[in-house]
Formats: sequence, C-alpha cells, structure tokens
Amino acid sequence: MCGIIGITGNKVNPEKAINMLSRLDYRGYDSAGIALNTGERVEIEKGKGKIQQAINKEKLPNRSEVALSHTRWSTHGEPSQENAHPHTDCEGEIAVVHNGIIHNHDELKEKLEKKGHEFCSDTDTEVIPHLIEERLNGREKNRKEVLKTIKKVKEQIKGEYAVVVSLKGRKELYGFKKDSPLCIGINPDGEENYFSSDIYSFSHLTNQSIALEDGEKALITPKGYQIYNGSLQKINRQPEKFEWNQEKTNKEEEHHMLSEIKEQPEAVKRLLKKQNEEGLGRLTQLIKNHERTVLTASGTSYHASLLGAHLLQDAGRETQAIIASEYQNYIKPGEKTLTIGVSQSGETMDVVKALKHAEQRNSTTSSIVNVPKTTIPRKTQHSVKIHAGQEIAVASTKTFTNQVTTFARISNQLGEQKNIKKLPIKIEKTINKNEETIKDLSKQLKEEKHIYIIGEGPTYPIAREIALKLKEIPYIHAEGMMGGELKHGTLALIENNTPVISLRTNDKMLKTEEEIRSKGAKIIPISTETELEIPEGNKIEKALCTNTIGQLLSYYTAKERNCPIDRPRNLAKAVTVQ
Ligand code: F6R
Repeated sequence: MCGIIGITGNKVNPEKAINMLSRLDYRGYDSAGIALNTGERVEIEKGKGKIQQAINKEKLPNRSEVALSHTRWSTHGEPSQENAHPHTDCEGEIAVVHNGIIHNHDELKEKLEKKGHEFCSDTDTEVIPHLIEERLNGREKNRKEVLKTIKKVKEQIKGEYAVVVSLKGRKELYGFKKDSPLCIGINPDGEENYFSSDIYSFSHLTNQSIALEDGEKALITPKGYQIYNGSLQKINRQPEKFEWNQEKTNKEEEHHMLSEIKEQPEAVKRLLKKQNEEGLGRLTQLIKNHERTVLTASGTSYHASLLGAHLLQDAGRETQAIIASEYQNYIKPGEKTLTIGVSQSGETMDVVKALKHAEQRNSTTSSIVNVPKTTIPRKTQHSVKIHAGQEIAVASTKTFTNQVTTFARISNQLGEQKNIKKLPIKIEKTINKNEETIKDLSKQLKEEKHIYIIGEGPTYPIAREIALKLKEIPYIHAEGMMGGELKHGTLALIENNTPVISLRTNDKMLKTEEEIRSKGAKIIPISTETELEIPEGNKIEKALCTNTIGQLLSYYTAKERNCPIDRPRNLAKAVTVQ
C-alpha cells in the first residue's frame, strides 16, 4: 500500500511535504520519511511511527526545489527507521520512494552486492536506487541518460510498483509505474507540480490531474511535465479536471469514523442529487443485455455487493457476488457475463486483477467506485460514481451505504419499486434514537472475546459487515452468518451469556433466537420494535439502518477499549498489493 508524493516547485518546504503526506496517511502509517533535494545535497529525515513522530522537520532545510515523501505500510522488512523510505544509492545522491513490491529483489540485491553496492535496509525497494546508480555510473546525469536508465531499470525489476526518483543536482522528478497507481497534479499557478499515489494529496491545491498508464515514464519540473511511452517517445496528454467532494460536514466528531457514520444522511442525499442518471441507465442497460452479472469486490465492498446481488436478483436478473481474490477460481467469464468491480478506493489490486481476468475472457466490465480517476474506473469499459466524498477512516462506512443505495437505484431502474427518498432521514433517526443505548451496550460488550451476528436475506450481508467492523475496529472476534445455518455447527460455540446480535427482520428469526436462547446465549435484537430500534421501511432502508447501528456499536466498543479507531493495526485503506 503506502502513499508516495513528489513535489517540484520554487519554494518547497518540509511543512508542505508533510501536509500533503498527511493527506495520504490512510494508505499506510507504520513509518514515514521525506527527502529534500536542495541542488547541492539530498537531505533525508525518516523514522518509525506516524508522520508527525517519524519526521523531525527541524532537521531539514527549510527550502528546496524538489521533495519526495512516503508513508509506509510494510510488506518487506519490519517498520523501522532503516526500512522507512526514501531509500538511496551508496552515495546518498539518488533518492527513491516506492509503492508496491519488487518480487525479484533478492536476486538483484545479490548481483548488486557482488558489484560492491552496500545496502542498509531489509526492503525490496532499496534495489531501485542502486540499480539506477549502477547504470549511471560513469555517464552524464542528464535527462536523456536518466530516462534511458529508468527504462533499463524497468526491464530488470519484476513486480508491481509506482516509483518516484530524485537525483542530486536535478530540479526535476522522474516517475514510472506498473500496476500500482501514480498520477501527476498540475498546479494552476504554473509554479509547482506533483506526483502522487492519488489525487487526494493535492486536491486542496489543484483540480487538474493526469493518470499515468503502465509502462509510461514521466518527469515533472516546477513549470511543466512530460510523459514518455515505453520506447521513450514523448506522449502528448492534457490534464483532466476532477471533481472531489471534501467538504467538512457540520458533524466534526472526535474520530473520522464517527463523523463519517454521522455524515451518511448527507452522503445519500448527495448521491441522489448528483449520481448521473445517464451513467446509471447505461449500467442498467448493460445488466439487461447480459445473461448474468457478477459483482466482484473485497471486504466491505464485497458485503455491499452481496446485498447488491440480492437486490438485482429481486429485480429478476441472474446475479452473483464473488470475493475478488477468488474470482478466477469460481467464475468462468465470457461474452454473456457482465463483471462489475465494486470498490471505494478504485485501487484494490484483487479487484483490478479480477477485472483484468474477466476482460481477457471477453466479459464486459464495469465498475462502481468512490474515488475518481483511479485505476478501476479507468480500466473498465464503463463506470458509475457513488459520491460519498472523501472517506478518511480506514473503516468503510458511508461508502458502504452509498454502494448499496446505488444498487437500490439500479434495481428500481430494472422495475423494482423500492422508494429510497426517505433513506437519509431514516438513517438520521436511527442514529439519534440509538446512540445513547449503544454507548451503554458497548460498556457491556467491551470485555467480550466472541460475538455472533445473525441475519437472513438482506440482513445476511449486514451481519457479515457488522462482524467485519467488530473485528477491525474494537478487535473482537466476530462471526456474521445466516441465522438458519447456526444449527449446522456453530451452535456448539454458544455458551452461557455468549452475545448474539440478531438482525430480526421477520418471525422466522424469532424461532432461531428461541433456539439459541435455550443454549444460554444473550440475544441482542435489532428490529423495529426492540430497544435497538430501526424505523419501519422497505428492506433496503431497514438493512442500512440496521448496519448503522452495527457501525456505531463497533465505534463505541472500540472507544471503550481504547483502540486506534481511525488507523487500526495492520490495516490500510487502499490495498494495492495482492
Ligand atoms: C473495511 C474496509 C475494507 C475495504 C476493502 C476493499 O472497513 O474498508 O474491507 O472494504 O479493503 O476496499 P475498496 O472498497 O477500496 O476496494
């Protein structure tokens, strides 16, 4: 995962680099670093931990023309100062930041060490500055040679990567990529330009960006940019404008997660207002034109897809949802299959690979994505936006709601009559009605080791989603399952006072509750007539209001347990490795 940034400008200072980097810390937060290239020297400051503690800006020059920065989510080498990026060559003159994995780094490192290169980290990345140093050795470090060198290095490395390189004495930055995202931001004042993993790092400075494609190389200077193809021929590509909602809501809470849960009514209203009917209509038409639809996604987006599949089935379309990393094992795509990738970040590598596999086998591909200009919408034949706006907490909340709302709108276009206009007000009511009760309940649940959540039909995906939230935020083992399945094995785990949250949507669930109560379980029901109460409504409204209660319960239980709510351990928001 990791977030990478490059800045070229006339007045680049550590504050600016740190500020932009902080906007990417949801991509990784176990270590961070900055390189400032003043022309005469490349100064590096890096360390373990979150950005503010990892980087002591007092140690850096207060002005430079080129800066690189990196926030890390470790894959090779533990989080430590040595393993934090930027990494350099033997002389400390070539600095590199990288997002991705270099699979053949061991072999390359061995060869470089034989040639006398000295390594100081356990990372895969460190081979890159040494490969550049090796190729440039004895050559002029001019633009032509640097580009040729990058081409050569690209031929040597195998894996997924987005890389930005700074060389002492050069007032420009070089970037190249394969499979991992890299874009350019063009500042309208004509004095500064950026490389970044995604648009969010610079979306407060400009609304113009260029996404780089695999195989391309690019350079940026304070005043311009140039893109090259694989054979180093110049490519003419103009920046595109992007629209990205980063309004602050009036619900500024202690944690982003709580602000984002409470922003859901606004997020749904925004979707209802802005989601392009035409684009949605095209997706509906594609669904109609294909014999079956496969929704592919990971984590929370997979749970939204499960509910989406249920809604599209209701509307008479053959639909299934599959976890993206298993797409190739379970799906035989072809011309009659429409594959829709569902993703908040638009960068999840498992989804990217599933869609690639589908396309190679003649399946039409489409996507439902939150972050614009990312890999998934660019690589699919058609894409729909969900307008949830920036989601900063690692846990997906409002984006789940807007993904499901999108499926509800599609099913309505297919002929269903599920009114969702009142959804925002119903979510608002759910929050207001239940927040205090949930705070009390979380005090009771905070010591639990296992929690079970049961649902059926539209609340089965919600049971899975609530379980995921309880695992990732308060770190409680939780299992979300179909109520009817409990008696086929899991019932053996129910002991005296084991908490079971029942998403009670009908009387059938009452029977299941009775059965598990008799085994000693402590039932916590959510329904239209219990203490944890959702408003009356159709199945989509009820499912999403129930999920809101689950989100709040995870949040407050995590707070009781003093967990790092917005940045849970071992996780990152955009999972750009397989
Ligand atoms: C959980 C969560 C993850 C993501 C998953 C897919 O709260 O956020 O499970 O849903 O990593 O990410 P996207 O939706 O960006 O493809």
